Amino acid sequence: MANAIAEGVKSSGKVDVEINYHVDPHDLSSYDAFIVGTPTYNHDMPVDFKNLFLEAAVEGISLKDKIGAVFGSYGWSGEAPKLILEIMKYKFEMKITETPLLVKYTPDQNALNECRNLGKKVSESLMNRA
Ligand SMILES: Cc1cc2nc3c(=O)[nH]c(=O)nc-3n(C[C@H](O)[C@H](O)[C@H](O)COP(=O)(O)O)c2cc1C
Repeated sequence: MANAIAEGVKSSGKVDVEINYHVDPHDLSSYDAFIVGTPTYNHDMPVDFKNLFLEAAVEGISLKDKIGAVFGSYGWSGEAPKLILEIMKYKFEMKITETPLLVKYTPDQNALNECRNLGKKVSESLMNRA
């Protein structure tokens, strides 16, 4: 899903994209936009995300008005993307482009196309802002 989203972001040819599996809270401020991918385990987000956003809040890192989106694979309830989106929107005052993109278990071609579209929309939001 992350690779397909990155393809969508790159399709404009004007936005650079990185896929990271671990991010230090201080790194967040160096991006104009970020798209967070999370599975749902036990109706919750992984603890790494809790720590990331908690540390960012404690350190007073400002993400205000950065562009954001969230996606995730899930099994039956899929709460984590919505929880993360709420933190990005209400705590950090980020500009969220879309509702969370949720895919049940493994993405098929349709779901991968949705991922590409999500990437494209985020890159369009960035270009509209520039
Ligand atoms: C221990 C465990 C707990 C899970 N809990 C949930 C859950 O509460 N809600 C849900 O929608 N999916 C749940 N799942 C399913 C995962 O979200 C799903 O398998 C997802 O595709 C995992 O993504 P990943 O392979 O990227 O880690 C759980 C899976 C495992 C193994």
